[in-house]
Amino acid sequence: MTEAILLVGGKGTRLRPLTVNTPKPMVPAAGVPFLTHQLARAKAAGVEHIVLATSYLAEVFEPYFGDGSALGLHLEYVTERDPLGTGGAIRNVASRLRSDPDEPVLIFNGDILTGLDIRALVATHRSSGADVSLHLTRVTDPRAYGLVPTDSTGRVQAFLEKPTTPEEIVTDQINAGAYVFRRSVIDTIPADRPVSVERETFPGLLAAGAHLQGMVDSTYWLDLGTPAAFVRGSADLVLGRAPSPAVPGRCGDRLVLPRAQVAPGAKLTGGTVIGERATIGEGAQLSGSAVLSGAVVEPHAVVTDSLIGEGARIGARAVISGSVVGDGATVGADNELLAGARVWCNAILPPGSLRFSPDQ
Ligand code: GTP
Repeated sequence: MTEAILLVGGKGTRLRPLTVNTPKPMVPAAGVPFLTHQLARAKAAGVEHIVLATSYLAEVFEPYFGDGSALGLHLEYVTERDPLGTGGAIRNVASRLRSDPDEPVLIFNGDILTGLDIRALVATHRSSGADVSLHLTRVTDPRAYGLVPTDSTGRVQAFLEKPTTPEEIVTDQINAGAYVFRRSVIDTIPADRPVSVERETFPGLLAAGAHLQGMVDSTYWLDLGTPAAFVRGSADLVLGRAPSPAVPGRCGDRLVLPRAQVAPGAKLTGGTVIGERATIGEGAQLSGSAVLSGAVVEPHAVVTDSLIGEGARIGARAVISGSVVGDGATVGADNELLAGARVWCNAILPPGSLRFSPDQ
């Protein structure tokens, strides 16, 4: 049996205001809490037992997922009293693991959407005899990530955090946030203090001569840490570009959840999802966007690559592009919100208060 740890305790600061009331893994992507996609993918790869390492807004996970039986999984929850960081969180759940000391344990960051072949990562781990194996992906601009150069056999040579100079960019391989640990290695992480697995545990293991193996898998990969990435990921799930068994409906240009009301003349494209009980008015145009449950988009509004929070209201003819409207907020008629705008939860933007001239 393979078991896994899912790290879901981060504050998700980059994703605010979506994460003010909801932890990042519970924000809906393609109609269900994002975590559902990760759990379903792990289950499809043969994982049966998953321990969720929770901290921020920890109380919301168990009422939703329960013991996991609805997904065919056995789920357990362990909450940190104070956040322990990624490595500390892994160590903190060690007592719940059932694997023998030499057996592999999967670990996933709770904010990565990927088509990673999970079985292949475990197989690589077993065949290489590594202490820890890491999923690596290639990116065109690696500056915001942790670089992981490997030798010709895939063995990790270094961990280089967020390089700044061109000389430091020695590879385009980055840590993709999925690992296999030999169970006994988890027990060597210090208990009861914050530890970063990326900045402390991995470099420490390498310095001590441990065998860390990288597996480059260049399938779909996206870190959903920012609003733009989250909206992109949701649309890619709806479009079927990102694989998940948990999308509640057939993949295509749009996904409309039960009890949503969409006027016949509204246009939904580019992987737009309309949540339960949401209402879309006549002539509204939505592309690549996520409208969460109970939200209202009034007639002739144009919403592109944006996320409209639970119960939020977008006024008639408003233009929203690359933006996030928090839960319960109201954007009055005829406003224009452009890339990067974030409207806080329950905020009220009076009609016509934000307009941009064509040359701005
Ligand atoms: P930002 O605040 O926007 O950077 O997001 P974040 O808090 O999620 O941090 P980051 O993206 O670096 O975290 C990577 C993964 O580890 C995410 O799945 C987090 O939920 C998780 N994580 C980060 N810190 C902790 C922690 O202290 N405890 C637990 N249990 N999980 C954590």
